Amino acid sequence: MCGIVGYAGEEEAVRVLLKGLKNLEYRGYDSSGVAIADGTHLFLEKKAGRIENLERAIDPNAAKGTCGIGHTRWATHGAATDENAHPFFSRYAKFAVVHNGIITNYLALARFLGERGVFLTSDTDSEVVAHLIDYYYTGDVLSATLRAVKDLNGSFALGVVSVYEKDVVYGVRKDSPLVIGRGKKGNFICSDLSGISEDCEDFYTLANGEIVRLTPREIRLFGFDGKERSFSFEKTSGLDLAKKTEGAESFMLSEIREVPTSLAMTIESYPEEEMKRLLSGKIGRFCLIGCGSAYHAALLFQAAMRELCGVRTEAYVASEFLTERWDPSGDPLVIAVSQSGETADTLQAVRKAKSGGAKVLCVCNVRASSLVRLCDAALITRCGVERAVAATKTYAAQAIHLLRLALTYAEISGKMKNEELALYKKELALLPEKAQEAIELEGYLSDVCLRVRDAEAVFFLGRNADYYAAKEGSLKLKEISYVYSEAYPSGELKHGTLALMEKGVYAFMISTNPALHEKNASSVAEVKARGAGAIAVTNESAAGLFNADYAIAIPDCPFVFSPVITCIPMQFFSYFTAKYRGCDTDKPRNLAKSVTVE
Ligand code: M6R
Repeated sequence: MCGIVGYAGEEEAVRVLLKGLKNLEYRGYDSSGVAIADGTHLFLEKKAGRIENLERAIDPNAAKGTCGIGHTRWATHGAATDENAHPFFSRYAKFAVVHNGIITNYLALARFLGERGVFLTSDTDSEVVAHLIDYYYTGDVLSATLRAVKDLNGSFALGVVSVYEKDVVYGVRKDSPLVIGRGKKGNFICSDLSGISEDCEDFYTLANGEIVRLTPREIRLFGFDGKERSFSFEKTSGLDLAKKTEGAESFMLSEIREVPTSLAMTIESYPEEEMKRLLSGKIGRFCLIGCGSAYHAALLFQAAMRELCGVRTEAYVASEFLTERWDPSGDPLVIAVSQSGETADTLQAVRKAKSGGAKVLCVCNVRASSLVRLCDAALITRCGVERAVAATKTYAAQAIHLLRLALTYAEISGKMKNEELALYKKELALLPEKAQEAIELEGYLSDVCLRVRDAEAVFFLGRNADYYAAKEGSLKLKEISYVYSEAYPSGELKHGTLALMEKGVYAFMISTNPALHEKNASSVAEVKARGAGAIAVTNESAAGLFNADYAIAIPDCPFVFSPVITCIPMQFFSYFTAKYRGCDTDKPRNLAKSVTVE
């Protein structure tokens, strides 16, 4: 995981790097650091905790130079301490290195170095890289880096500076993302474009096995074989940087409020003809892959295909897909869902599916991502950048693309009558408007959370598509507020979990299928009879059926579509619970926005 940035230009590097790191903080925020190369020596500062700690620690008079590298960390190997923060120096501070990824053979490499009298000062897997480059250096930094890279197993994006070359930054990529940016005032490397897009006009995404040498005026690309390669830039124009909405306290809150716009933009961009062509091909089965919220969005496609088309699909948590013996026969269309397009488990799962010959479509929010490049076709969600760690607007947008895709399949496969299809399409088009109505619930949810913020646990309940929505509600609450939470099919409650219902515990019921309201209302009654509290999100038409402590009515819509709307009150619920418990709603503990390690 982690974010790396490098700069060679005409501005003070420390300022540029700190700006880049702030943009990349969503990739990890356990520690951060910078190394500045002034041509004769390397300046280093690194600190555990948020970037503000680093900023405070940097002595502006010492951090002089227009070339450097920076890092923001999500700890994998070694605790979140100053010592384990990047960059790492080699012996005698000749090289400084930042790393994103995991060096899987670092213990063997540390032994190799130890036998030669070089000992590590940190608990990380990354530090060995700086020492190896130093070990192999015989007068040429590029050659030494290429030689060191040969010894590394695992995944890595690296940034390297040294005392040997003035104004030169190296960037290296294998299985962890890295882009080059070209701007008016200098050149960059960065884990992804969001770190540098404001200052760059053009970018190039490094392929695996490439190394770039940047100076303020020149960018040269090489393969791991040392041969120089030609490459061409793409324009960064049109890339959207998320800004806090005026008056909003956090990215998460702004991003929840942006759900309706994201839905509208995403529906509008749906490439109907392209998807019709894709789905008219030979498809024997559908298989979905995703992690976290993206997996929960995939489940909504599963429900829609089952309920609307009578077609069974398989939905996998990507890391589980990797553990199973997956049978690629029967012409599967694999659909990979990911906000970032950089999630390592999802990328690996796609590689596995492709190696079995499967065609892969992705649903992704970042066009310039590794996932989009890897897949045969892409449905891009139009949310702009999502900065809060919790997926909000992107979950809703993934859902709407997938639901539209299910309707396209219903159409071309003749699984649905024309009139019915027209009705569903009309209902889908109304979702952004209905989402806007749900946004009006913000004040009410804030009041509810003031009363239930001390809940010991919250169980999210639902049936069918509402159960899938419940899974997302539960994930959101636990990741942001650290309140213990699980999702259960309502009918499953009496098979064990009811034992946990008591005062101080809440059930959060989602019931949007009129055929299931009565059953769900009984589940609420059973919960309340044991002293637990109840919150119910239902259709407007069902208001009054549920004897809940707090009732939240959302606009009526076909029940397989309703997760696009019910997610909004659940997102507000998590946000306000977290806020009133004093949690950081944008950067919850132990997490990062982009999970780029398996
Ligand atoms: O970028 P991706 O959509 O692939 O990320 C997948 C998950 O890591 C992500 O959805 C995570 O579960 C969110 N923090 C949930 O809010």
